[in-house]
Amino acid sequence: MATAFALKKPQIKTELPGPKARSIIEADSQFVNPAYPRPAFKLVAQRAAGVWVEDVDGNLFLDCNAGVAVCSTGHCHPEVVAAIQEQAAQLIHMCGTDFYYRQMPELAEKLDEIVPVARPTKTHFANSGTEAVETALKLAMHATGREKFIAFFGSFHGRTLGSLSLTSSKIAQRIGFKRQALDVVHVPYPNDYRNPFSAEDCGDGGAAQGGLNWIENRLFKTTTPAEEVAAIVIEPVQGEGGYVPSPKGFLSGLRRICDEHGILLIVDEVQSGMGRTGKMFASDHYGLKADIVCIAKGIASGLPLGACVSRADLMDWKPGAHASTFGGNPVAIAAALKTIELLERELVANSADVGAYLKSGLEKLKDKHNCIGDVRGMGMMLGVEFVTDRSSKQPDPELRDRVEMASFERGLILLGAGPNSIRWSPPLILNRENVDVALEIFDDAITSSR
Ligand SMILES: Cc1ncc(COP(=O)(O)O)c(C=O)c1O
Repeated sequence: MATAFALKKPQIKTELPGPKARSIIEADSQFVNPAYPRPAFKLVAQRAAGVWVEDVDGNLFLDCNAGVAVCSTGHCHPEVVAAIQEQAAQLIHMCGTDFYYRQMPELAEKLDEIVPVARPTKTHFANSGTEAVETALKLAMHATGREKFIAFFGSFHGRTLGSLSLTSSKIAQRIGFKRQALDVVHVPYPNDYRNPFSAEDCGDGGAAQGGLNWIENRLFKTTTPAEEVAAIVIEPVQGEGGYVPSPKGFLSGLRRICDEHGILLIVDEVQSGMGRTGKMFASDHYGLKADIVCIAKGIASGLPLGACVSRADLMDWKPGAHASTFGGNPVAIAAALKTIELLERELVANSADVGAYLKSGLEKLKDKHNCIGDVRGMGMMLGVEFVTDRSSKQPDPELRDRVEMASFERGLILLGAGPNSIRWSPPLILNRENVDVALEIFDDAITSSR
């Protein structure tokens, strides 16, 4: 095993999926929830270290997805593993809703220091992204006494009923669940590459101005009185919607609108946070301070942990209003504290540095392949959008799917995002040598897929 991980390149020894993988996939299809949105390629993981994943048949993959942006410090980082083991030997669970343990205030205090929310803050601990978002929604309703929300098309905030009312990246997420649980109105996301607004909406401020005008001139004057809106909920870089960063000026414009109307700004950093964009939070690229921030995915290197961090004055609800049996489990928190230490020590900087190197390599591939319409993003949160040709910008989802599959067959794990983009969300330990290997495979996968 150690030798396998010492290799510098993926190694595919069997057909994919291999024989052992096929029997696990078969058992899975018999017993496991079929609604998991798995891609066409089938990876059955056995173990992993750093940026390398070995499947059950001994094939070795270079992972540029990190379990969907979760394994921020790489797979099984030795220091994270040690922190988990040490904590597990001392206290696994106590239920922070009823009892106390030191890890909860320790992590909450650390988050108070690093999150893009005006201090002082308070933190609710959850187990997942969707629970962090549910907390934010309840809190916004409780704190404002209002119940309308504004969210964006293409967004993903989770699949429980409250967060699902916001989520709008794919129809499959909604079919069968009838009306929205919450009163949410959606606005087109100001995507610079595919500006959804008219020239009149945009004036001379581009997509950012178009989005702000849509809210102020359209929503507030027709369906959605500003004084009834509890919160605007936004991903600073849309994740599942296609890895689309907000254009300059948009988030500060939302901040202004919120301040003018007593609306709370909820920033969903579940995918974009914890160093992914080359700063600790994507909001930091924009100098944005939210009222409430949602965090999960990369915070604990793979252990389940979510956090909803808000301005302390907003969280003045009474005991019983919101709590969770498992949320903020001591083992998950130990993993988070070690993860943050590693991020601050070196990995946020590595995400910025190696992420920029990866982005410049992807831009070179864009020059070479006319089917790449756009390369975008910051740090190690990069999107590559596939089109039939660059001048028509016609989306090419089938080509995207073929590239995803061809990459896998060559030992590179990548996942799609949005209708026709590939997301690059590698572990933040990725180095330049890994990037060179990944780009060579991606280049070949594109050539063979056209
Ligand atoms: C931005 C964002 N918010 C919320 C969620 C939901 O997180 P979870 O799957 O942990 O519930 C996700 C998951 O992809 C996400 O990307």
